[in-house]
Amino acid sequence: MSKIILITGGAGFIGSHVVRLFVNKYPNYKIVNLDKLTYAGNLENLRDLESLNNYVFEKGDIVDKEYINRLFKKYKFDGVIHLAAESHVDRSITNPMDFIMTNVVGTVNLLNAAKELWKDNYNNKLFYHVSTDEVYGSLGEKGLFLESTPYDPQSPYSSSKASSDHFVRAYGNTYNLPFVISNCSNNYGPNQFPEKLLPLFINNIRQGKKLPVYGDGNFTRDWLFVKDHAKAIDKIYHYGKEGETYNIGGFNEWKNIDLIKVLCKQMDIALNKDQGSSQSLITYVKDRPGHDKRYAIDANKLKKELGWEPTLQFEEGLAKTISWYLENQEWMDNVTSGEYQNYYKEQYK
Ligand code: NAD
Ligand code: DAU
Repeated sequence: MSKIILITGGAGFIGSHVVRLFVNKYPNYKIVNLDKLTYAGNLENLRDLESLNNYVFEKGDIVDKEYINRLFKKYKFDGVIHLAAESHVDRSITNPMDFIMTNVVGTVNLLNAAKELWKDNYNNKLFYHVSTDEVYGSLGEKGLFLESTPYDPQSPYSSSKASSDHFVRAYGNTYNLPFVISNCSNNYGPNQFPEKLLPLFINNIRQGKKLPVYGDGNFTRDWLFVKDHAKAIDKIYHYGKEGETYNIGGFNEWKNIDLIKVLCKQMDIALNKDQGSSQSLITYVKDRPGHDKRYAIDANKLKKELGWEPTLQFEEGLAKTISWYLENQEWMDNVTSGEYQNYYKEQYK
């Protein structure tokens, strides 16, 4: 069956993998990628799709209500997969307002436009909201986030995402808007902007620059290869139960410092350097304010109900990721020129 699907934030890291999967796997769908092209959005991520006739790019801002309403009238979307967001915790600490505008106001603009367009018939319509495990807050040494874990966001970023999740559920409850939400753990892989841990450290090692480890490095995250996240989104979009939440995770917890050491070893091999030389760049720096200690996702609901599980082992995914960045140095050099230099100086001064 043919569908017109809006994917927001498709020029970003995860969005570009979701757009590619949907455009290639569903030639009978029309995929409209709406993106503002902030510092994190990059059309280079999608060059291979430009000539395909089931793919359209629209440059625009989800905060602009009139623009969003016009876009929904123009395309009459059957579904929305909403990924557009301000996504970096450190930036949310220095500039929370951008996060409230895009993540909260932008999401509500999309919900209103979908509600208006679909009001006469909700059949076969779906608003899929892509969220994060950070909404659940921070864990101690034990325990896992379940879909029923109460929200307890700790940073301006996670608070803005939690707020947007609440609005999506409120529109489901109040107006019967058909929705699903997924909350995923840390993604890694090709095309990630080098403000996030792994691409930042890969780029710094390549340039012989220090590796700024926050605090004591004993913070735990669960890591998932980005293409496995895209596959989970595909599964949930097509087979997820309306009104449900699905946790997505890699069953793959690492303390930052241990993960960084594995990265350093693999980088030494990839760059033909003496073992230990990348690790010697590790520098402990001031901690992130309010730094969440541990995230760990229980993704068994998704596994049991929809048969999804990660396809890649972490070491294999990491090796693929390193190869991609080393083979795409021009991509890295382009995104780290200009504004990135000012960001880096401010963040790591
Ligand atoms: P990203 O920062 O790489 O990409 C975000 C994209 O949204 C960019 O292309 C940007 O241009 C676009 N955008 C930002 N503001 C916009 C606006 N006002 N209007 C239109 N477009 C706008 O982010 P990402 O890491 O790919 O994350 C995508 C989504 O997945 C986010 O909602 C994020 O909260 C969620 N998520 C991310 C991770 C992760 O590890 N990166 C994990 C779980 C959930
Ligand atoms: O858990 C999902 C979330 O994962 C997503 O919702 C966010 O969009 C995504 O950015 C990510 O958030 P984190 O804060 O966990 O990711 P980040 O890559 O910024 O940091 C990972 C860990 O590494 C965290 O404990 C902080 C630490 N860190 C990060 C940077 C950038 C460092 O020690 N040094 C650094 O320079």
